[in-house]
Amino acid sequence: MSIILCLLLLLLVTIVFTKKFQTSKINLPPGPQKLPIIGNLHNLDGLLHICLQKLSKTYGPVMKLHFGFVPIVIVSSNKAAEEVLKTHDLDCCSRPETIATKKISYNFKDIGFAPYGEEWRALRKLAVIELFSLKKLNSFRYIREEENDLLVKKLSEASQKQSPVNLKKALFTLVASIICRLAFGQNLHESKFIDEDGMEELASRSEKLQAKFAFSNFFPGGWIVDRITGQSKSLEGLFSELDDFFNQVLDDHLKQGRSVLESPDVVDVMIDMMNKQGGDGSFKLTTDHIKGIISDIFLAGVNTSATTILWAMTELMRNPSVMKKVQDEVRTVLGESRERITEEDLNQLNYFKLVIKETFRLHPTAPLLLPRETMSPIKVQGYDIPKKTQIMINVYAIARDPKLWENPDEFNPERFSDSSVDYRGLNFELLPFGSGRRICPGMTMGIAMVELGLLNLLYFFDWVLPEGTTVKDIDMEEEGAVIISKKAPLELVPICPR
Ligand code: HEM
Repeated sequence: MSIILCLLLLLLVTIVFTKKFQTSKINLPPGPQKLPIIGNLHNLDGLLHICLQKLSKTYGPVMKLHFGFVPIVIVSSNKAAEEVLKTHDLDCCSRPETIATKKISYNFKDIGFAPYGEEWRALRKLAVIELFSLKKLNSFRYIREEENDLLVKKLSEASQKQSPVNLKKALFTLVASIICRLAFGQNLHESKFIDEDGMEELASRSEKLQAKFAFSNFFPGGWIVDRITGQSKSLEGLFSELDDFFNQVLDDHLKQGRSVLESPDVVDVMIDMMNKQGGDGSFKLTTDHIKGIISDIFLAGVNTSATTILWAMTELMRNPSVMKKVQDEVRTVLGESRERITEEDLNQLNYFKLVIKETFRLHPTAPLLLPRETMSPIKVQGYDIPKKTQIMINVYAIARDPKLWENPDEFNPERFSDSSVDYRGLNFELLPFGSGRRICPGMTMGIAMVELGLLNLLYFFDWVLPEGTTVKDIDMEEEGAVIISKKAPLELVPICPR
């Protein structure tokens, strides 16, 4: 009975909304026919970025869909992306508010999900200067190198036994250990309240939380449906587990007598700033801001970097001639007898960098970036996009656009050998980190982790598939909602070449 009442309520609101839009005469982008109430939700099947890529082949690079009641514009060409992220960056750099992102960001007291405004600007500035600066990046170099040494040690043991390694798990542990040490001061191998498995579980929960499909996001009055179907309760449950972890991190830092290291971690830096701030009327950092930023780093930093290294290894296994070429370069440049690798070694490698570029092109881990929301009406490619419209940039579709790339689905690092196209936000055909005011602030840290991680794997080991399997058995399926990872683990046997 209550469901029928909900549906009647939704139908009524649909009629009112439809009437409102019928009267306007603006040139809206084309898109598939929508249905009452659900809009275009019936057009969405499978992974969103791939489904939207297919739809854009019919409706064009600027198309409009309705997720329930919410109008969303999908951009799938480099030209249109440049208009949104550069020409109209200031008008488009807010984020839509959803029930799940409100929860996970401690009521938008973070950087990733907070709408544009004074508070977001202050927090982002603080993060860029204090947490993600080049100086800070360099001060954590020893952590990245030590954790890589540890991975090499574990892989060497596996290579002696000739046993296959689950690279997905190994790389997740590598990146999670680095992030936990430099951001939260937690050594995953020794921490009293979190271990490697607990960390993996928590990361997968955060991803689920972010992706939670809630009726409340797309339908006025949808919160009633969420209550009835139990969505609200499950969201609360997921969040409370994450919140417990963040509280433990904070409590650990606030403990009496805690000694801060020479390179204080991200939480130390924020607590110090909170304690020192004056009583004037400007922005005030609170513990909720600190938890919001911990949550961002956790969500945005771990899976993205680990998955990128995993895709690089997957593509190299599928393309043995590229694997041979890059390993030849790495071993020739570094010499055959190195005991360990440092970040300085990265400077001399050219083909290796092309392999990383090609991995970012074929496998952007946030294929639709994070959704933006317009703060005023704009025009993109001649189409009107009203205020408060969500915009998704399909960087996956752009990076595989046959008008821009020859044989776009092929893994071919050579395509970049005579090209100045880079992935740091200035070339709109390649945007794995986004662009404009909302560009990923952890980009240099992410790149540093990906480069050093991959270099260690390629320098110290040759890699073979487990007995009885061939390249054809490598599963390329993706999974996820906002951050997309490789679904199946990649099992490989490391061989010490010396
Ligand atoms: C390979 C690694 C990484 C990739 C591919 C990546 C990608 C992205 C992308 C695509 C966005 C959205 C940009 C937009 O909306 O235009 C983003 C935002 C963000 N990333 Fe990253 N990221 C990576 C690593 C990291 C790391 C290591 C951190 C932090 C330690 C981080 C923190 C953030 C934050 C806080 C935002 C939100 C920025 C805002 O809304 O102002 N990311 N990232």
